[in-house]
Amino acid sequence: MLEEIQELDRSASDGIKLIQNLQDLDAYRIKYLARKGLIAELFDNLKSVDAPLRPQAGKLLNELRKNVQSLYDAKRNILELSVANPEKTTDLTLPGRSGWVGSQHPLTQTADEIKRIFFRMGFEVATGPEIEDDYHNFEALNFPPDHPARDMQDTFFISDKVLLRTHTSPVQIRVMEKRQPPIRVIMPGRVYRNEAISARSYCLFHQVEGLYVDTGVNFSELKGTLVAFAKQFYGSDLKYRFRPSFFPFTEPSAEMDITCFICKGKGCKICKNAGWLEILGCGMVNPNVYSYVGYDADKYSGYAFGMGIERIAMLRYGIDDIRILYENDVRFLRQF
Ligand code: PHE
Repeated sequence: MLEEIQELDRSASDGIKLIQNLQDLDAYRIKYLARKGLIAELFDNLKSVDAPLRPQAGKLLNELRKNVQSLYDAKRNILELSVANPEKTTDLTLPGRSGWVGSQHPLTQTADEIKRIFFRMGFEVATGPEIEDDYHNFEALNFPPDHPARDMQDTFFISDKVLLRTHTSPVQIRVMEKRQPPIRVIMPGRVYRNEAISARSYCLFHQVEGLYVDTGVNFSELKGTLVAFAKQFYGSDLKYRFRPSFFPFTEPSAEMDITCFICKGKGCKICKNAGWLEILGCGMVNPNVYSYVGYDADKYSGYAFGMGIERIAMLRYGIDDIRILYENDVRFLRQF
């Protein structure tokens, strides 16, 4: 008897899950719950159970009937609701649908991480205007009047002397105009260049600029700071190198390369088989720049660096088209 009760319990619990409509549900009711159904039949058989076991069997049978009845009732509720109101049916057994709460743009995430690392090294943040004048974007940064970067080809001019900044370096000038050393700032921001739009270049992008000016700052401090940054950002096992370069506002100037973090220097598509990736430009602040901001070039020295955020984010996340960062396509943004 006990086994029969258990068996019926199992088949009734399994059976209810397969039922999709009211006709089948009625068949279920007749099979299990009706006056001539399987449960009633077991009740009839109680008579033949040994007297001492009968109360126990009776109790189990009552539980079985209650259980099957509630399975039946619950299913009928759902099915009747769906007949009356097909689109409002709630199947409470489905897993919940959680809404998308939004996420930070990959560029914001990348810039924030860069900022966090420099915060820890004692840098503070400064910002400046995106609409700049020629003086801050070029002249005070020691660009000669005929420097090619001043060409219409690269710069969006608003008027003769007003333009969209082409780098974050003018913020260096604005900070130094307002404050005296020691200065240790990073300057994140949006910059603009008049380039043909393609998978690799866009008319705007972002940079993080850094500047440290104090007495006795030297090139080894520049290297130490940038290497400490790169190890925290890209991983402590990286190799790096500094290559000589040129910027009018730094002297000497360098570019920093790190071993490609995709192939670890073996050579791959991302690093164009070089094994190295260029990540930033840097150098010691050119003394000529101090004369524009009224610093004593004999007393103070400093370093500056600048890096492009798009490039870093694209390498990091394996993004092969810069334009997708500006399209606000949620199918892309949801991945971050
Ligand atoms: N402003 C430079 C650029 O846009 C980068 C740079 C910043 C280089 C600071 C040296 C020092 O390419």
